[in-house]
Amino acid sequence: MKSRIESLKSQALTALKAAKSEAEVRDLEVKYLGRNGAFNEIMKSLKDLSDDEKRTVGKLANETKSELETAILKKYSELEMAAFDVIAEKEWIDVTVPGVKPSVGHRHLISKFIDDLEVVFGRMGFAVAEGPDIEQEHYNFNQLNMPEDHPSRDMQDTFWVKNLKRVALRSQTSPVQIRYMEAHEPPVRIISMGKTFRRDNDATHSPMFHQIEGLMVDTDISIANLKAVLTHFLQQVFEDPSIKTRFRTSYFPFVEPGMEVDCTCPICHGEGKLSDGVPCKLCKQCGWLEIGGAGMVHPKVLENVGYDSKKYTGFAFGFGIDRMIMIKYRINHLRLFFENDLRFITQF
Ligand code: DAH
Repeated sequence: MKSRIESLKSQALTALKAAKSEAEVRDLEVKYLGRNGAFNEIMKSLKDLSDDEKRTVGKLANETKSELETAILKKYSELEMAAFDVIAEKEWIDVTVPGVKPSVGHRHLISKFIDDLEVVFGRMGFAVAEGPDIEQEHYNFNQLNMPEDHPSRDMQDTFWVKNLKRVALRSQTSPVQIRYMEAHEPPVRIISMGKTFRRDNDATHSPMFHQIEGLMVDTDISIANLKAVLTHFLQQVFEDPSIKTRFRTSYFPFVEPGMEVDCTCPICHGEGKLSDGVPCKLCKQCGWLEIGGAGMVHPKVLENVGYDSKKYTGFAFGFGIDRMIMIKYRINHLRLFFENDLRFITQF
């Protein structure tokens, strides 16, 4: 019996040594130490031995069993450590290698510029008003003193919405003036910025473009106020305190008088040529750039929204946002704003 125990022990240890996986070890565990395993067989057969033998053989059997148990536990942990070694080898990373910086997106040039305009006008006490991109004829034209069949409507080649009566993609931000005045009593001091739409498409006109509208109505508002606000605004936008403005008489149905606003060219500072004598291409050597329209709000427009035109006066203006950005950043084609080419977009 004793030699049987010894040989089982050496068999078991040899097999254990050769085992390559946890599953193999588990099989050995069952085979030798399990309920129907070799050692239990021995324990069961002890009953046939003399008391003396029972004691010595029983002791040996128990000792051997616990020796094997220890060896099996040790083998398990060896296998586990080996598995960790494999993982560590496979998943090794060099934490000292310089990282790859993920590229982070940012707001589009136009959106950022619109935010800047809001800040500049905010400092002058102007609030931001909003209106819908799809607008009723009533706001886009009629209330602005552009009645049906009036030739001034042809100034803006409008996108009308099919099958919807008297609804268009707004051709200007001026309807926001009406919406705001209908909902508020004077004094009024607002700007409104957003998309406008016309049937146009070339290097400096796209079917969708952006405008900023301004409106100030109160008692005693004059062209002097308009000039002061616009001059300050353009100086801030182009970051150039030397900018001057000039007004040229023009016609817009919702203002009287109406004018075209020019500012000195921020590149040649009104000289028409650069400091080295090279002719300025941006202003075509004239020293001035046309920025947009403005004027004193037409009394009819004030009356249309229920304001007393004897008591109140106001100015309004409407400038092209895309054009101002093109001037400020020397961008020569509108297409660049909308193509989303990262080589362009990431410059701003
Ligand atoms: N709405 C005009 C346009 O898009 C621009 C304009 C001119 C707006 C004069 C004004 C203004 O508020 O007073 O052509």
